[in-house]
Amino acid sequence: MVLGSGAREHAITKSLSKSKYEKKLFCIGSGHNPGIFKLCHHYSIGDYNDSDFVVNYAKEHNITIVIIGPENPLEMGIADALLKAGVDVIGPRKELAMIESSKTFTRNLQKEFNIPGGPKYCSFSNMNGVEDYINELGEDFVIKYDGLAGGKGVKVFGEHIHSISDGLSFCKDIVSGGGSFLIEEKFIGEEFSLMSFCDGKNIKHMPIVQDHKRAFDGDVGPNTGGMGTYTDSNHSLPFLKNADIEDAKNINKLTLKALKSKTGLDYKGILYGGFIAVKDGVKLIEYNARFGDPEAMNVLSLLKTDLIDVCESMIAGNLDKCNIEFYKKATVCKYAVPTGYPEDPIKNEEVSIDNVSDAECVYYASVDLRNDVLIETGSRTLAFIHVANSIYEAEEYVEKNISNVKGPLFHRSDIGTKEVIDKKTIRMDKLRC
Ligand code: GLY
Repeated sequence: MVLGSGAREHAITKSLSKSKYEKKLFCIGSGHNPGIFKLCHHYSIGDYNDSDFVVNYAKEHNITIVIIGPENPLEMGIADALLKAGVDVIGPRKELAMIESSKTFTRNLQKEFNIPGGPKYCSFSNMNGVEDYINELGEDFVIKYDGLAGGKGVKVFGEHIHSISDGLSFCKDIVSGGGSFLIEEKFIGEEFSLMSFCDGKNIKHMPIVQDHKRAFDGDVGPNTGGMGTYTDSNHSLPFLKNADIEDAKNINKLTLKALKSKTGLDYKGILYGGFIAVKDGVKLIEYNARFGDPEAMNVLSLLKTDLIDVCESMIAGNLDKCNIEFYKKATVCKYAVPTGYPEDPIKNEEVSIDNVSDAECVYYASVDLRNDVLIETGSRTLAFIHVANSIYEAEEYVEKNISNVKGPLFHRSDIGTKEVIDKKTIRMDKLRC
């Protein structure tokens, strides 16, 4: 059973549907996702953050394995409830999911276990000392809300906030809402995602992906859940060095070990490190406790090994014996999102892929099928992915298809283009010399 009904969960379900094993797939989603629905034996619309509902559904349908897609059910302890009921889960327990749900937990873990790649940081739950700490970091600071905020909890100086007083107001808003936050040193470089399958002790890495958080072409505009991603055929990225990837792999490996030492619990699921390659190495920006979205579409389209074998190895704790292979191809994924997204998205409008020549490249996200009409529900709507020999070939194909979607949607046309990737490579070379 898959929990969640976005494009990431569509990608997970599609990958499971290709398994050689006899199986029945189930899903609990928040709306009617026609892509997932088509692949499932039974699809239920309900609250996947409600442990009683999820456990009762799992028992009623004799579910053997649950894959938890989004972060909220992980934070709510749905994995713990299912494990208690005897159902195997891909996705960490609540205490381990703090690697995503608490930024302070992650930074403290890094510090306690001497894991490289950490920034200077300080956590606050009131305004005492905030201004002094910001002044100490100068203009290179980032403020992070210490909790899940759907990609909206991070404010980077020079990008989202342009004065110290803007920064202080953001902090005050958090404090007045009863929350806490971190202030960290800001890093300059190129971001990348490294997701790893984990069984508690062993770790196997996926190809490196680059996501694009900003809403508009040229990496401007507000932060989003991620507008598009790519991978390269060598499983690296044109602006990364092998040493960057080895450093990131090492950080994920050390983090898995630290999580076990700290909690005594086995982390079974996906450990997703958000990294940045900087002037002199690699730094960790944040962790997520699940597949990335859109990153899942890229890596699962490349996964050669049966996903059910990978899941069973994570559950059994013998991932070291599971040979996980990915096709040596490039991928590009782009999201079509509603006009006004992310700040004031148009909602409940009809969209259609009738004119899209290759419907197989479409993954359904924030949509609902109402009376046979596809309706966008105000967030990232449809993801378009293609696998090809090069990033540029994949990008052209995705553009051709995404441009034919009908409805009040837009997408980023620059993601994965040669012009933009060349610029990133030049920028990284300059930074390093
Ligand atoms: N791609 C960003 C995320 O999944 O959080």
